[in-house]
Amino acid sequence: MSEIHPVDPAFAEKARVRKDDYQRMYAESVQDPDGFWKSMSERLDWVTPPTKIKNVSYDPADLHIRWYEDGVLNVAANCLDRHLAKRGDKTAIIFEGDDPNESRTLTYRQLHAEVCQFANTLKNLGVAKGDRVVIYLPMIPEAAVAMLACARIGAIHSVVFGGFSPDSLASRIADSKAKLIVTADEGCRGGKKIPLKANVDESLTRPNTNSVETVVVVRRTGGAVHFQSPRDRWYHTLMEGQSTECPAEPMNAEDPLFTLYTSGSTGQPKGVLHTSGGYLVYTSLTHELTFDLREDDIYWCTADVGWITGHSYVVYGPLANGATVVMFDGVPNYPDFSRFWQVVDKHKVTLFYTAPTAIRALMREGDEPVKKTSRKSLRILGTVGEPINPEAWNWYYRVVGEERCPIMDTWWQTETGGFLITPLPGATDLKPGSATLPFFGIKPAIVDAEGKVQEGACTGNLVIADSWPGQMRTVYGDHQRFIDTYFKAYPGNYFTGDGARRDEHGYYWITGRVDDVINVSGHRIGTAEVESALVAHPKVAEAAVVGCHHDIKGQGIYAFVTLNAGEEGSDELKKELIAGVRKEIGPIAAPDYLQWAPGLPKTRSGKIMRRILRKIAENAPDQLGDVSTLADPGVVKNLVEERLIK
Ligand code: WTA
Repeated sequence: MSEIHPVDPAFAEKARVRKDDYQRMYAESVQDPDGFWKSMSERLDWVTPPTKIKNVSYDPADLHIRWYEDGVLNVAANCLDRHLAKRGDKTAIIFEGDDPNESRTLTYRQLHAEVCQFANTLKNLGVAKGDRVVIYLPMIPEAAVAMLACARIGAIHSVVFGGFSPDSLASRIADSKAKLIVTADEGCRGGKKIPLKANVDESLTRPNTNSVETVVVVRRTGGAVHFQSPRDRWYHTLMEGQSTECPAEPMNAEDPLFTLYTSGSTGQPKGVLHTSGGYLVYTSLTHELTFDLREDDIYWCTADVGWITGHSYVVYGPLANGATVVMFDGVPNYPDFSRFWQVVDKHKVTLFYTAPTAIRALMREGDEPVKKTSRKSLRILGTVGEPINPEAWNWYYRVVGEERCPIMDTWWQTETGGFLITPLPGATDLKPGSATLPFFGIKPAIVDAEGKVQEGACTGNLVIADSWPGQMRTVYGDHQRFIDTYFKAYPGNYFTGDGARRDEHGYYWITGRVDDVINVSGHRIGTAEVESALVAHPKVAEAAVVGCHHDIKGQGIYAFVTLNAGEEGSDELKKELIAGVRKEIGPIAAPDYLQWAPGLPKTRSGKIMRRILRKIAENAPDQLGDVSTLADPGVVKNLVEERLIK
């Protein structure tokens, strides 16, 4: 039996959703999705309110997902304009820089004005509804401004994380055929500079990137950058004299809002496409209820806008709710390990949302850096990105929240748009390490390898049996890949790619990815991408990459590399290969371990048996299972003997 933390009755009394509300609303939401989601859609301002609510088929032959399909709205108007009357002078964004002496705030009125100015700028530069705009910025308010300006005019943004390399950036530009890029001279994290503009310059020398007409550059550090006329333009010059009014484009609920590239089991990252109406209903509702949002809350989610968490829970959900949002451009350990808590105290943060990898890294430094701060303002804590181990959960609960703040372990994915399995603070008793129960409208199921639905307490693969408004609609430019990836494995269901256990109370415990995706510090890395970066080296014949245990990152990257005949493995070559992956994808994809493999375990048909490699990387050579079907069982002995984690 695992430990249970019951809801604090004093908290429940004032909460938006209590235990009986949860049960009643959940039942309504799954019995009558149309009725439930129609009433939830009323939280937004519509130009034309929807009358058609749900139109979904998971049948691979006729796959379509549509919500609110006759509704018309504008996402930016919902995040800004509708707040002006009551919340015009309320702080929308508190910006906290990497340097602790740098912070500034924008009210809803100021943010609205700046978004309108940038929307007008984009229009002047020829960007129109449906055009794609790549955003490659640090965590500065201009990132939110650029996203909302796109939403205002109906351009589709594609934010690329600032830690990605020029090659990764180039492949996203090429896939989206972006017309314009918004970037900064340099980023600045942990006191180090990141050459964003130089990376953009380099990416634009790659093939298939000539769709880009303009590069808009925000001056962040003032560092020297190369300017190519007339392509490159300064943000501040373009914004001068622009009107602070710009009409919001009426958008159909199913018009695309953004694409965001994410790694899967195979091939290149895919452009996950989210649309307007359902996405905003879902992100704003989940944000409001999971964080029990109050008018005077100060909400801080530490995720970068380059990831889905930054889209749904730094920008769209909270701003649609009129919340005050902290945007942090720094790291947890700079200038020192108290930084998160110093920022909490400085801005009186009440709702704090971060990732298990950050919690584990801070936990390793002991309690002292936490205890020397107050944190009295904190009300609710959240976590996302990977399973949180109970030790880290307990430390977060006991030391950071002083047993006063419930912990919202939110399970969701880039594809899901918002939380699918999550506690609600006034309704759900907590169990450390469990994401607990489904959100409204979500029907999780656990299936075995054959697709048979499991009942009661069980373990297996996690699928979702019905649609919800925040679900992704397609893979940009490749609908077939969308169908094949998510709807073929278990017909009639959305396949999450995660494994899970359900306990005797119906609580879900996510056990991690069951496909070839590695979750490194909460960031998804496809093994196929790392392998293709490794084999790009002329001395490499073959590579196989699997996940391994890592104390801080949750999972690390373990690569097995076979060199061409006549080549010799050396430490120098190892470094070169790892540097190659950093360059090709970005530092987050750099292998933690690289083992030379004279041969890889393959079936007789030539398929690499990753199951065996995973066990070797997990230091579990006694659990290799049956190796007799291998083409050459002998290769395993060498790999086991030479394994790097013992
Ligand atoms: C994992 C991030 C356990 C999971 C929002 C999922 C989690 C993948 C949790 C999606 C959690 C995310 N507990 N595992 N609370 N949250 N995951 O697309 O494996 O970057 O499939 O979205 O992260 O990662 P993504």
